[in-house]
Amino acid sequence: MNNLSVSRPWIIAVDGHSSCGKSTFAKAIARYLKYSYIDSGSMYRSVTWFAIQNGWISDHGIDKESLLKNLGKISIQFRFNPETGLNETWLNETMVERDIRDTLVSSMVSEISAIPEVRHRMVAIQREMGRKGGIVMDGRDIGTVVFPQAEIKIFMTADLLVRAQRRYDELISKKMPASFEDIRKNLEHRDYLDSTRTESPLKKAEDAIVLDNSKMTPDQQMEWFKELLEKRKKGINS
Ligand code: DC
Repeated sequence: MNNLSVSRPWIIAVDGHSSCGKSTFAKAIARYLKYSYIDSGSMYRSVTWFAIQNGWISDHGIDKESLLKNLGKISIQFRFNPETGLNETWLNETMVERDIRDTLVSSMVSEISAIPEVRHRMVAIQREMGRKGGIVMDGRDIGTVVFPQAEIKIFMTADLLVRAQRRYDELISKKMPASFEDIRKNLEHRDYLDSTRTESPLKKAEDAIVLDNSKMTPDQQMEWFKELLEKRKKGINS
């Protein structure tokens, strides 16, 4: 039995750089604890996809006014697909899991996610999803802004080239177009935008524990987490 607390199940925040395996790690933790897993990045990707579909992203930039006027029309849900055994992202009753991973979305999502009104709306939805606890959420500002009260905060990072290779392998395995150099540049650019934006920049929460997984397998990361969990259950904050 892994239920951590009798009063309320815990909230676990996993933040960090793009493509360092946050979602794989967060999903594994959620499975282990029998908690829900929420990928907050897919919510910002869905908003970006929504803007693209409506023609509000073009060579001239982002039509912010139209996007903001229509923010209230965006509904995002995560639904379990029993065939794949995975949670899928649904935007306004359409399954968008594949669309939101494409290169155009990836190249625009940092700009969309830097818009304060977009963030405020996403944070409100995320807090509602975590109201009862029992959740593992990954993103950039989960431990700093969304759930500053989270019982466990993890800040993940990995070497840029290792991250680019992982994203490249992932796209190739899904038979999606991929160029290693474009991916590397995109990741570097997103790291920069995510860490320097004014609204909720990516930064380690003071009480977050750093996990650099450049040289770690998923199993080793899980072992690392189990040790951290045991310490936290005993009230040891390191
Ligand atoms: O985790 P990801 O690569 O799918 O996230 C896509 C983008 O969304 C990323 O460039 C930064 C942004 N994001 C954010 O600003 N805040 C979050 N909590 C999650 C993602």
